[in-house]
Amino acid sequence: MIAQDHQSPAKLDTRQLDHRYDGIAKVTGRAKYAAEFPTENVAYAYIVQATIPAGTIASIDQAAATRAAGVHCIITPFNAPKLTVPGNVNILQDTNVLFNGQPIAVVIARSLPEAEAAAKLLRIEYKEQPAKLDFNALLKNARAPKRGGGTSHRGDPAASLAKATAIIDQTYSTPIQNHNPMEPHATIASWSTGADGDKLSVYDATQGISGAQGSLARAFSIPPANIHVQCPYTGGGFGCKGYVWSHTILAAMAAKVAQRPVKLVLGREQMFGPVGSRPNTSQRIKLAASSDGKLLLQQHDSTCYTSLISDWTESAAGQTQLLYDSESLSTSQPLVELNLGMGTWMRAPGEATGSFGLEVAFDELAEKLNIDPIQLRLINYAEKDPRQGLPWSSKHLRECYTQAAERFGWSKRTAQPGQHREGNKLIGYGMATANYGAGRRPSSAVVRFLPNGRVFVGVGTQDLGTGTYTILAQTAADALFMDPALVDVKLGDTTLPPSGGSGGSTTAASVCPAVYDAATLAKLKLAQLAIADTQSPLHGATTEDIETKDGKLCLKSNPEKSETITTIIARNGNTPVEATATSEMPKDRDSFSSHSWGAIFAEVAVDADTHMVHVRRMVGTYDIGTLINTKTGTNQLIGGVVWGVSMALHEETLIDPTYGRTVNENFAEYHVPVNADIHEIDVTALNIPDYKFNPLGSRGIGEIGITGAAAAISNAVYNATGKRVRDLPITLDKIMNA
Ligand code: MOS
Repeated sequence: MIAQDHQSPAKLDTRQLDHRYDGIAKVTGRAKYAAEFPTENVAYAYIVQATIPAGTIASIDQAAATRAAGVHCIITPFNAPKLTVPGNVNILQDTNVLFNGQPIAVVIARSLPEAEAAAKLLRIEYKEQPAKLDFNALLKNARAPKRGGGTSHRGDPAASLAKATAIIDQTYSTPIQNHNPMEPHATIASWSTGADGDKLSVYDATQGISGAQGSLARAFSIPPANIHVQCPYTGGGFGCKGYVWSHTILAAMAAKVAQRPVKLVLGREQMFGPVGSRPNTSQRIKLAASSDGKLLLQQHDSTCYTSLISDWTESAAGQTQLLYDSESLSTSQPLVELNLGMGTWMRAPGEATGSFGLEVAFDELAEKLNIDPIQLRLINYAEKDPRQGLPWSSKHLRECYTQAAERFGWSKRTAQPGQHREGNKLIGYGMATANYGAGRRPSSAVVRFLPNGRVFVGVGTQDLGTGTYTILAQTAADALFMDPALVDVKLGDTTLPPSGGSGGSTTAASVCPAVYDAATLAKLKLAQLAIADTQSPLHGATTEDIETKDGKLCLKSNPEKSETITTIIARNGNTPVEATATSEMPKDRDSFSSHSWGAIFAEVAVDADTHMVHVRRMVGTYDIGTLINTKTGTNQLIGGVVWGVSMALHEETLIDPTYGRTVNENFAEYHVPVNADIHEIDVTALNIPDYKFNPLGSRGIGEIGITGAAAAISNAVYNATGKRVRDLPITLDKIMNA
């Protein structure tokens, strides 16, 4: 890494942008999302979905639909072009129906209403087969994931259990959830033919332009270089835009068949099933401890559904392997096959759901042992990663507990439930540990000094709304000691140096070092130009003695000797000076383990008569390494906590037990919180850099906010009412019946 060897990374904090780089473009509507790019001669595609959960399509009579007003063409499994993607990924390559809602045809028409109207005229005959839909009934048929994973053992569970004085053995469950970014999935695809073959241009709402490019290249057997994917702004993703779903490939297929550009936007109801769900979990957790609170055994067996299309595991037991120390450990993650759409990543996949089970179980164990819940966690604090015994690159979870407890006022809590009343409101306090893994993906960046004094930064990553533009402008400005207002950032275009997908809370830690390095290299090239130039006052100096400062190169040993960057470039024939750099995990990555940490506290008020829960306050303190930008970073944490409230109280995808269709595929019935549901949220980050993990010290921040939050709320509901709800969401009926 270059950054470590050059100017102090601590400088990052000095040039905080206090506004979003893309804020004005967004509020004025100048920021264009995938479906908003004007495209000449564009046709509109509408995806037709299966209305049975299992079977095959016997026939599709498209005569009436084909004659309908405005219809260009209709693609079905009976006439679709053969693509080279193996298996069923809902791209009309066979007649199998594996879930209700599966894409089975595409109607392409002059307008979206005409496409939708024509779709209703299709006469589809099915051969139905019995569907697997009852998760609980099929639990006994759960099987191991085909690719393994989730299973781990440590110590001797039976012996540890035999020594225990306190045992918790409970089942915790979380429902299927669906992503609801503001921007639904959308793709515009256009084909052209050039000297070097067919070319495809795509605007796609995605968390990974390179992934979309690669999938399309494989599907249509053309070189990735012939595919141009653009996504300058993504209107939220949370995981569902991390995978390349059928609609992206179908839009390109439709454009080929219709011989014109095609726009395909999913309706809100189409977001429930065809583009991935967070699977439900049923988590059996056994915790056994000695009377002093020391954990002897942690056992976490989490079963979730998987589709018949491909295995997907909501890895809820994963964090249990590393969060706390224990003499013995046993985890597994079996799958129950159901006729439902594929599972996929959803914000903190695994940790969000697993932390609900584990952290509520901890609360139950704390009560049984009569030990304060924070104390119990401190007793079992993992000083190193329990999996391989590796040291943490940086861990300040103790400080998180202390700071959050202080800000929250945990000392005012009464351990015994039901003691704190305000009128007919029962008040309760609860807490949980938050955690999420840290990772970095290889990422490249270009930094270019322009003749007009501005600096161009280009990275083939994308901004989901998280703040990537902002932190990259800031990082370049920092590396170059210049005004961030003079930095132009371009993202979301596969012609830029490639980067990874924006998922797994990896973006900031991946792309910032690449930009820092590219800026440092570009600066070096500029210095070399000046040194070699007899007309420059810096002629003959050493590169080590030259630094950039506010648009100039100057000598460290004699700051009077300087020259503006624009002058150097002007004498260079006005040719921009640029450098590209690639950054990835450090070489000694196998010698340490990296994770982000936090402590989350909740105060709830439960109506004694109606059992309605209000989350009055959430207080979280996080150890996420360097907080690169306070505004965008804190926004991510708040967003995660809001989702935690949502997970605790609102969200639940309901599947019809007979037909397998999502019943509540709209915002009226799939509840996400509105402003009235969200009250005080206080989040802070310790901002302690993790330089072992990343030369800029940052880990990830996007997902940790949701983790632990639902457990903290559930624990607070228990503290308020004495009712333990182990099944999310916590609705009034469950409190009433607990
Ligand atoms: Mo996230 S669920 O890795 O987009």
